[in-house]
Amino acid sequence: MRVLITGCAGFIGHGVARRLLGDGHEVVGLDNLTPYYSPALKRARLADLGGLRGFAFHVVDVADFEGLERLLDGVDVVVHLAAQPGVRYSLRDPFVYERTNVAGLLHVLEAVHRRSPPPRLVWASSSSVYGGNRTVPFSETDRVDDPLSLYAATKRAGELLAHSYRHLYGLPAVGLRFFTVYGPWGRPDMAYWRFTEALLEDRPIEIYGSTAASRDMTYIDDIVDGVVAAVLRPVTDEILNLGDAEPVTLERLIGTIERAVGRAARRIELPAQPGDVEATFADVRRAGEVLGYAPRVRLDEGISRFVDWFKGWSGR
Ligand SMILES: NC(=O)c1ccc[n+]([C@@H]2O[C@H](COP(=O)([O-])OP(=O)(O)OC[C@H]3O[C@@H](n4cnc5c(N)ncnc54)[C@H](O)[C@@H]3O)[C@@H](O)[C@H]2O)c1
Repeated sequence: MRVLITGCAGFIGHGVARRLLGDGHEVVGLDNLTPYYSPALKRARLADLGGLRGFAFHVVDVADFEGLERLLDGVDVVVHLAAQPGVRYSLRDPFVYERTNVAGLLHVLEAVHRRSPPPRLVWASSSSVYGGNRTVPFSETDRVDDPLSLYAATKRAGELLAHSYRHLYGLPAVGLRFFTVYGPWGRPDMAYWRFTEALLEDRPIEIYGSTAASRDMTYIDDIVDGVVAAVLRPVTDEILNLGDAEPVTLERLIGTIERAVGRAARRIELPAQPGDVEATFADVRRAGEVLGYAPRVRLDEGISRFVDWFKGWSGR
């Protein structure tokens, strides 16, 4: 298969590309290498893929419709992961979320629709669309009209755009709602990375809000399993959850990192940030039925693999 991956220099894009290339597929990667976090880390991920057979990479912005369209030649499946992530940063620069997460997805949908036959589209939504929902676990059939952050609102807007393309043109698109993904090659803006870095440098960790807040933390290899299954199988669902289905409190996450690093954390307690949610918890039964998805890597193991990778990563 020939697969176009947008956001290929990103955390999840790198993991999906690596797996597909290892399995003998061709990958066309696209990314604009935004400086939201270290472009050096993005380049290191690309360098890791660079030696693999069947990989080509292009610096293109999803805002560039013609540039995007040109890369679709011969493509069987598009995995659209390019996005402006992060709940907190959306308070500082809301416009980049609109450009990339809403207009960017619209470009991808339109470019795919103009091809005959259209490639299948697998794209990244987010657990954040469940917003202030209280009933857990979160199911694909729950109402999602209470986004608590601008990031969540743009991901939900994307789901509605994809819904319209499916309705109007029968566009084959599945949106995957990822739940807090972590692991080697991860994202420096996320709590598990910041805590690990601070502990290793003997600095206090900054905790926003209550440590009783919980997240359904999902190991990168499990997410990659789910994405790759959605690439290879003709999925007809519109939305699927990909999570761990075993939420952990912030307190437990900190304890797990302390054990993996071998040092107790000094804490700076700060107020909860606007846009943060209390809990996330995925119902993954449908992904299990449709994709054979079954998360395998437990938190202790996943964090220990992350810490080992982090210690050895030369970009620190
Ligand atoms: N990591 C998580 O916990 C998580 C959870 C839910 C959803 N998601 C979604 O999964 C996808 C991948 O997330 P990630 O964690 O790998 O993030 P990431 O930031 O590491 O990867 C996204 C990549 O997209 C690129 N990009 C940003 N704007 C672009 C543009 N306009 N044109 C082209 N490329 C652009 C960035 O340079 C980056 O390399 C995103 O859509 C994100 O919203 C991630």
